[in-house]
Amino acid sequence: MDEPETLGSVLKRRGFSRRSLLKFAIAMTSSLALPPSIAPLMAANLARAKRRSVIWLSFQECTGCLETLLRSSSPTIDSLIFDFISLDYQESLMAAAGTAAERTLREAVAANKGEYLLAIDGSIPTKDGGVYSLTGGRSNFDMLMEFAADAKAVLAIGTCAAYGGIPKAHPNPTGAVGVEDLVTNKPIVNIPGCPPVPEVLSGVLVHFVSFGNLPELDDRKRPLAYFGTTIHDQCYRRPFYDQGKFAKSFDDEGARQGWCLFELGCKGPVTHNACASLKWNSGTSFPIESGHGCIGCSEPDFWDKGSFYTSLAGGSSTGWRNAGIAAAVGVAGGAAAALSARRKPGSESAERDPDKPDLDKQP
Ligand code: SF4
Ligand code: SF4
Ligand code: F3S
Repeated sequence: MDEPETLGSVLKRRGFSRRSLLKFAIAMTSSLALPPSIAPLMAANLARAKRRSVIWLSFQECTGCLETLLRSSSPTIDSLIFDFISLDYQESLMAAAGTAAERTLREAVAANKGEYLLAIDGSIPTKDGGVYSLTGGRSNFDMLMEFAADAKAVLAIGTCAAYGGIPKAHPNPTGAVGVEDLVTNKPIVNIPGCPPVPEVLSGVLVHFVSFGNLPELDDRKRPLAYFGTTIHDQCYRRPFYDQGKFAKSFDDEGARQGWCLFELGCKGPVTHNACASLKWNSGTSFPIESGHGCIGCSEPDFWDKGSFYTSLAGGSSTGWRNAGIAAAVGVAGGAAAALSARRKPGSESAERDPDKPDLDKQP
């Protein structure tokens, strides 16, 4: 069998210079909140890196996560990075079907035992023997437990895979749960969002390909570089928040002036995600820039925490209540910084993964 190509040779063949790779590494170290001095090492590692196997299983999901990730591709080195991982199994993308697909999966697992990344989108139904979502007659639960056992790490892509998401919404008829509720003996990276920001997955993969380990995670197993701040921390409407200028309806003068959407229910102050900095569609926009408040889609149980249009300050008995009280204080005192609520490893309520990845040591 031929030796797999290195990324360096792939890039060279496609006309990319070492300088382009270094520029890419500089951008990625910045995106991953790594010291700039790491960039040359990342570039050198990427040039030497070989394809890493990724096996992607889709469970109780809507395909939105995959759709958004496909639309992230651009004709740059980012897309080459995606070319460079070996996506050995993904039911919606692969040509093979039926027994041929199942054979492909088994062969990929056997060839990369202990080394592949297992990517999951969708929640896992646990009621009634997991009968509500089957692939080839096997429950999602059985497949997750079997293929996680030989994985190097598991990526839970999207709020469904991370926390159960919309399938878990009350009354949760299928007993949906997230990956971390079932897999307890493997490093897990949660990349929540409904759907998640595609560049976050790119960042995690680049880190893994470059250094052979995972980026630093927070107490909810999310990449800290992307989830360490709230939407509110990075929001371009924040100056209006600090000045107490709030739109009262979606078509009033304040809305037209781009004032803060807090009173229209924006959950940005309590939502951790990278939308406000990375944005969507190649950096074009994000929900708040389109005139709608953040609905908190990357937070656990966002669907059940109350109306998307109820202000955090008037949170009544919603699941956002505690955060809402804090937010109200922030509004009254203009002390929005109090809402930052960064979740770093070791922070107060941190429930650190007892199986803290041994492969996530920082380079
Ligand atoms: Fe669909 Fe959202 Fe679940 Fe992704 S997280 S599968 S986009 S419902
Ligand atoms: Fe932006 Fe929402 Fe915060 Fe206002 S409340 S500054 S719209 S994130
Ligand atoms: Fe979701 Fe809020 Fe971003 S709704 S897409 S986390 S701005």
